[in-house]
Amino acid sequence: MDRHHVVDLGESGDAFRRDPHPVYARLREQGPVHRIRMQGADAGYETWLVVGYEEARAALADPRLAKDGARIGATFFDEELIGKHMLVADPPQHTRLRGLVTRAFTMRRVQELRPRIQRITDRLLDEMLPHGRADLIESLAYPLPITVICELLGVPEMDRAEFRKMSTEVVAPTSGDSEYDAVVRLGEYLTELIEDKRCAGPTGDLLSDLIRTTAEDGDRLSPRELRGMAFLLLIAGHETTVNLIGNGVLALLTHPDQLAALRADPGLLDGAVEEMLRHEGPVENATFRFAAEPLEIAGTAIARGDHVMIGLTAAQRDGARFADPDRFDIRRDTRGHLAFGHGIHYCLGAPLARLEGRVAIGSLLERAPGLALDGPPGEWLPGMLMRGVRSLPIRW
Ligand code: HEM
Repeated sequence: MDRHHVVDLGESGDAFRRDPHPVYARLREQGPVHRIRMQGADAGYETWLVVGYEEARAALADPRLAKDGARIGATFFDEELIGKHMLVADPPQHTRLRGLVTRAFTMRRVQELRPRIQRITDRLLDEMLPHGRADLIESLAYPLPITVICELLGVPEMDRAEFRKMSTEVVAPTSGDSEYDAVVRLGEYLTELIEDKRCAGPTGDLLSDLIRTTAEDGDRLSPRELRGMAFLLLIAGHETTVNLIGNGVLALLTHPDQLAALRADPGLLDGAVEEMLRHEGPVENATFRFAAEPLEIAGTAIARGDHVMIGLTAAQRDGARFADPDRFDIRRDTRGHLAFGHGIHYCLGAPLARLEGRVAIGSLLERAPGLALDGPPGEWLPGMLMRGVRSLPIRW
């Protein structure tokens, strides 16, 4: 690919936000790697974008594509303001940070949360169902994952509306300034929270455990790393799962044959959730990587220090990997989908996200037999990180 040929995604405007798939399909036809100009709050910023499945999968696991800006003398403002976390770290630091919380997210530990997740879902549905209509995002898709991750970490009931505004702004910023403000305010919030928990003594939750780890072995988790960890887990722990539930229900309601098949055989639910993740996964592009050394991807020379964005949405619609890729088919073989990433940064919360998605969508279908759309979905989130709608009107 000619380094000077730049595809300006800003030119595709709002249509690209609503439906980026035709643009990604055109890019895939031309080749697996492109030089692009971003759209949204990062409009004008140039980066490489990998859109082919094989290349994306390989790039996600390529140690030459690094995360720790210090290796090329770069600093990122959210890391400056909040602190280091595993998604901006390379081994051995990444290994150490991830190791500290891995146990809390194993399949077995997550399965133990199932009754609690079911109870929260039941309560939310009890509140929602008598109304006959609702915004799914507001009533179920958002409150379920935020309640679960807050309980797990030991974050008290807080001003959820305010927190939601800040965290959504971090992953889908409406402008560079508002993203910066949101990170500053989240940083202040977390500093206070950690201080309160430190004073309160051990309470058995994850954050309290991590605070004790810091106190007992100071060089293992610095206060900044602790804040970074809380930031990452809180944000990654809910902003994504909201959109698994939202995009998943939207796909079912716009594909009545698939909805009918799932209703007829609830045993298809786990596979349906995987297809929701493949067909319209919550994370459109993996978080930035940069070339720690010069490399080639499919014949394209990437210089040291260049940013590389890996297109998960684009890769998951690659017909070379998934036949008839635009079709939403809950019975298809989705193995190898990249919705949770791949390699050392593979989503830590995947077992939790899957469980929440299955419980939420399964329970909703069971208790709302006449479920249907109640108007067009709200606007698609801005930026190129997340795929999801701000609201989803439903009735039953
Ligand atoms: C459907 C929901 C979710 C999706 C689609 C998702 C997707 C992803 C993806 C694609 C990555 C890799 C990003 C990259 O390599 O640039 C990632 C990493 C991560 N996710 Fe998730 N995620 C979800 C839910 C969760 C939940 C519930 C948690 C709970 C704690 C979580 C915690 C994390 C963490 C900590 C990382 C960083 C791992 C590392 O750097 O080693 N995620 N996630």
